[in-house]
Amino acid sequence: MASLDHLETPIPLINLDRLDANLGRMIRGAQRHQVGLRVHFKSFKCASLAKYLQTQGIRSFLCATLNEAEILVDAGIQDLLLANQVVGLNKAKRLVDLGKQADLSTCVDCPAHVEELIQALANQESRLGVFIEINVGMDRCGIETGEEALALARLIEKEPRLRLRGLQAYDGHLQGREETPERESLCRAGLDKAQVIRDHLGREGFVVEVVSGAGTSTWETVASHPVTTEIQPGSFLLMDAQYNRLRPEFQVSLTVMGTILGSRAGRYILDVGSKAISQDFTKPFVVDHPHEEVVKLNEEHTIVRFEGPPPRVGERRYLISGHCCATMNLHRRVAVHRSGKLEAIWPIEASGLYG
Ligand SMILES: Cc1ncc(COP(=O)(O)O)c(C=O)c1O
Repeated sequence: MASLDHLETPIPLINLDRLDANLGRMIRGAQRHQVGLRVHFKSFKCASLAKYLQTQGIRSFLCATLNEAEILVDAGIQDLLLANQVVGLNKAKRLVDLGKQADLSTCVDCPAHVEELIQALANQESRLGVFIEINVGMDRCGIETGEEALALARLIEKEPRLRLRGLQAYDGHLQGREETPERESLCRAGLDKAQVIRDHLGREGFVVEVVSGAGTSTWETVASHPVTTEIQPGSFLLMDAQYNRLRPEFQVSLTVMGTILGSRAGRYILDVGSKAISQDFTKPFVVDHPHEEVVKLNEEHTIVRFEGPPPRVGERRYLISGHCCATMNLHRRVAVHRSGKLEAIWPIEASGLYG
């Protein structure tokens, strides 16, 4: 097997041994709390990785966009939730096409969403699942009350090709926060709200099979709440500098390999810029070089401050990104390795695609 040395930089690398360890940890955690595990595809956007996860026992996937859903269905994924509202008749028709090939659900939070799905389903041999999204505190999308949920459930019921599957209760506002008692109580309060809404629907005869939520940060609080039936994290597989601080029990498996272009006066320049690594949440870190600190990213360069003897031109460095999902979105391919031995180069089919 080839080493990574001959690869041209900058290039993202995934350490499969570490990814396996993260996956095993999350699978065991979900089993311990008796909830399902739905892995978020938007964190890696790579069909080969989704197929690899399938071989490791993952059957359910979440995605953020229609493009991602199309790529996953093409890859043979059968159990899929699009965690967003799909708006526009053309997009709704793309969704309906996918519903002919896979067990696909989407989110709604107002009657217009359901009405458009019904319009797109006219004369089509397709079925779609529907999740009602609840605002559990993120203040982005989502309904607030049991009455709103009931109105949507009644509308969904009118179209036999739509089926109310569950409630979407993602707590994105809590993902970047430290695990404090305050965060725990905010997280539980959001899920209590989901429980009230689920019970309201139940009293009116609507069975809610699934209540789905959580990210990498809050997975365990969410999994331990009685209303939760499945968790939907994604970043735990690859990890980044922010999650490494918040959830150090998961290992960073994604790095971006760069090459030193030159050095002077206590700083060196790496060929990894903001077009090759994300600094969304925090600046990237240099792996295994504690005396080297990223100062600044330009588009094609990273400036790193160092102590001690200057590194050689051409030396390699590995950076931990400031946000793994955004980093995968910057590249078209990723090198996959075990213990530094290259296993494959995988395309990142959904990177740079929106909508
Ligand atoms: C709807 C939804 N669910 C789950 C997640 C996964 O979160 P994480 O990347 O923290 O694992 C995200 C992330 O943005 C999300 O938007």
